[in-house]
Amino acid sequence: MILKHLKEATGSRHAALESRLPLLDAGMSRASYLQFLRLFWGYYAPLERQLLALPYWNSMGFDYAERHKTPRLVQDLHALGETPDTIEGLARCQRLPTLASPGQLLGCLYVIEGATLGGQIITRRLQANLGLTPLTGAAFFDGYGADTGGQWKAFCAMLRANAGESVRQDDILDSANQTFETLGQWLFPPYPTPRGGTP
Ligand code: HEM
Repeated sequence: MILKHLKEATGSRHAALESRLPLLDAGMSRASYLQFLRLFWGYYAPLERQLLALPYWNSMGFDYAERHKTPRLVQDLHALGETPDTIEGLARCQRLPTLASPGQLLGCLYVIEGATLGGQIITRRLQANLGLTPLTGAAFFDGYGADTGGQWKAFCAMLRANAGESVRQDDILDSANQTFETLGQWLFPPYPTPRGGTP
């Protein structure tokens, strides 16, 4: 039930993000792809740092360390010419979702684990359009490769098991929406309001 609610509650935000990302476009340049990878790093690096430091993992019975995605972004950035120094100098997102309860953690995880599903389609397009493979710059979107479906099922089982009475369902839904919102605003910052506001 929680998964159905999550999908319904976040569906429009997923669709909005998907339609703005040019990752499936045949015309996307390598430079544009690299710029998106930099931005994804700028969101995932501080987010995963916070996630991994949370005290909830043992009680949830879930090992996020083996799902850590920032190293895959670093691998791709290196493959496309960035160095440890240039990566360290990239901007990091300051407006991340609030992760102050197990429910908020679950909502955020739903978004970043779910992204590996769409990643499978993106990886195939990156290969067709830019000639990139997981070894040459497309490891992040490849997610868990052939094991992506299995990893998603394991995540969903953990989510169902933990979304019981002690966790507020609204916390999970709000946090999933906040994760989509903050990522969307980071990738596509809103235009600043002109001085004096709108006429
Ligand atoms: C071009 C970009 C994207 C495409 C083409 C795409 C496509 C997809 C597809 C095909 C699915 C599987 C749907 C299903 O099996 O019912 C999916 C699931 C999902 N994607 Fe994306 N996606 C994209 C970007 C993203 C991003 C950037 C995020 C978040 C960081 C995201 C989060 C999710 C989530 C949470 C799900 C799970 C939905 C559910 O079944 O509950 N996606 N996506």
